[in-house]
Amino acid sequence: MDSNKRGQWGSNLGFLLASVGSAIGLGNLWAFPYKMGKSGGFAFLALYLVLVVLVGIVLMLGEFALGRHTGHGAGGAYAALAKKYSFVGWMAVISPFLILGFYCVLGGMVLRYCLGFLVQIFGVDGFAGQGSSFFGWLLYSPGSMLIFLAIFLAITMFIVMGGIKGGIERFSKTVMPALAVILVVIIVFVALQPGAIEGYKFMFLPNPEVLSTPGDFFEVLKTASGQMFFSLSVGMGINITFGSYLSKDRSLQRNAVIVPVADTVFALLAGMMILPACAAFGVDYAQGPGLLFASMQKVFLDGMGGMAGNVIGFLFYFLVFIAAVTSSIALLEVCTAFIVDKQLDKGQEPKRRTVTGIFGILVFLIAIPVSLDALGSGDAAIKAPFELMGLSEASAMWNDCWLDFYDMITEGLLMPIGALFMSIILGWLLPKLVKEECQASGHKFKGETYFKVCFRIVVPAVMLLVLGTQIKSFFF
Ligand code: TRP
Repeated sequence: MDSNKRGQWGSNLGFLLASVGSAIGLGNLWAFPYKMGKSGGFAFLALYLVLVVLVGIVLMLGEFALGRHTGHGAGGAYAALAKKYSFVGWMAVISPFLILGFYCVLGGMVLRYCLGFLVQIFGVDGFAGQGSSFFGWLLYSPGSMLIFLAIFLAITMFIVMGGIKGGIERFSKTVMPALAVILVVIIVFVALQPGAIEGYKFMFLPNPEVLSTPGDFFEVLKTASGQMFFSLSVGMGINITFGSYLSKDRSLQRNAVIVPVADTVFALLAGMMILPACAAFGVDYAQGPGLLFASMQKVFLDGMGGMAGNVIGFLFYFLVFIAAVTSSIALLEVCTAFIVDKQLDKGQEPKRRTVTGIFGILVFLIAIPVSLDALGSGDAAIKAPFELMGLSEASAMWNDCWLDFYDMITEGLLMPIGALFMSIILGWLLPKLVKEECQASGHKFKGETYFKVCFRIVVPAVMLLVLGTQIKSFFF
């Protein structure tokens, strides 16, 4: 396909805003802190950082290069290299679809908190009389869960259908710095609370004992790897699409470093806000997916309290909401573009709106169990997957609740498998592709040996370890 017809980024800034906007989202603010809290603090953080450097940046570069080289999005890029590789492209679409199945539920919850604080500013109780225990109430309120899921999904669909994505992306130029500022404000507030220091210790003091049993080490490695895929948005084709719109005179390598670094900074800020808050306000680090909501509610209502708490709470959730939307539109766009590209290839008139509408409905359907199982807390409207499968909870560590179940299929299986194939293709079968793309328009390919060793050996080896750990968890 002619690259001009597909359009290109007006500037490198446009490209960066789109990739950074889609990378930074609930993965950084919601998932990173709770996974760190559940997986031993420092041990998780250390492995995460190593993985970003050895795997994340390498995959990001590989995906940008693949996209720009083939001029196709996720679906078409692998097929353009050779028909036999097309299955890797398919995996790249299933992941964003399943992720949307829980992303929109969380996005809806963020919206609910945002509105709660907004009405509190006007003196109306926004949290059903529950105050800082609102989270537990919300989980068991199917009506609220479904309505806010529907609103978040509808907003995402509306933006993708209306083609006003460009405007939203430019929006992230102001939202991201604003989000950073409010995170820092909250971090400082939390730091001044008695007891907060324990949270920093948990994050930053080496705790080798967590990693000394091999079983624990591989568990933490698997969790950190999954989080790396999710947060950087690698291993699911989105960066292939972004790369396909990037013109040849831009430096691929620079972009492949800036995006992961920016993403990691936001994850660290979120961690430094939430874990010390847990320490100061007596919230259990290891409580799982509810951690952000539970800990921040204490900070805003019990810690700051009054008008200040309501205003900061509202601003915080509003910015998190925008960050989540800039990610969810990218997720839905991958799904839509996959089908639209296929229609174009067949010479058909592409039906963007219809395709987006159908995906939206399918996402809603798969999101229903995520909304209604109370995150596996028991006695919910819908049973958790392990209960439905007749497994005992003890043997079902890999699918506690529907959210974890989708998460496990994507982060634990599809993304590492996709990354394994990609690194083999780019490392061994087409070893010149990345180098040539990086050198386009006279750029230097920096760290050639590093990237070569990572593509050929490090990434495949880590992916095999992660997949092995995931598969083992099904049986023991
Ligand atoms: N990285 C995003 C976040 O941290 C979530 C995400 C995962 C995503 N895969 C993606 C966003 C693909 C856009 C496209 O919230």
